[in-house]
Amino acid sequence: MRLELMTSPAVADYLTRSKGIIIPVGATEQHGPDALIGTDHLCAEVIARRCGEANGIIVAPTVAYGMSQFHLGFAGTLSLRPSTLSALMHDLVNSLAATGFTRIYLLNGHGGNVAPLRSAVQEFYAARSLAGVREPSQVHCRILSWWELPKVNALRQRLYGAQEGYHATPSEVAITLAAHPDAIAPFERPAPPAPGKDVILHAGDNYYDAADFRQRFQDGRVMSHSALARREDGEELIRLAIDDLAQDFRAFCAAQ
Ligand code: NI
Repeated sequence: MRLELMTSPAVADYLTRSKGIIIPVGATEQHGPDALIGTDHLCAEVIARRCGEANGIIVAPTVAYGMSQFHLGFAGTLSLRPSTLSALMHDLVNSLAATGFTRIYLLNGHGGNVAPLRSAVQEFYAARSLAGVREPSQVHCRILSWWELPKVNALRQRLYGAQEGYHATPSEVAITLAAHPDAIAPFERPAPPAPGKDVILHAGDNYYDAADFRQRFQDGRVMSHSALARREDGEELIRLAIDDLAQDFRAFCAAQ
């Protein structure tokens, strides 16, 4: 169920049965020569929305912009500063908490968002701790990136192995092919060159600035063979993601 397509009384009624909500968070950034600018938010969005429909969970409007400063050497990238994303998410968590939600699930689609999202959640708790609030917060937040969902992670490794890489990954491209089949023209392209000594930079989107990124990764991909993506595999990845997410969300809502 999409929050933006509900009435306020319908949300109040939902809150008598469930206190949980999913917010898809992504980015608007270059994804190499063939994949979509919106890949990161479109992946989180399709998984969250389909899971919400199938399981009667409210899904908030997608946060389509993320912390993408290192992609700004490529046209079409729109980035927030880490502090802006963190402040935005802090305000959203506060809004949800103020209106009765106590299980707030951030489904992430972009590695560069992880640190600002964690910061936002800790800002929420820090405000209580620093004010000396004595009762434990009833509000719990969970941050998970869709590729960490266990069945999804297993399938993407089985399908692509090391060619999954880190950016414009065949798994994310496959999901967008399944979700938006008319948006991507068929393409062929060889794998990007191996990065050699620079590989240590990539863990957790831990890059330097945009000019440095463009020099290291000239076509925008980071070790990812995007052309391995198939629409059918995207459909399977989405199906497994919906399953995994529903299970993880239920466990999160039930935990004290
Ligand atoms: Ni991406």
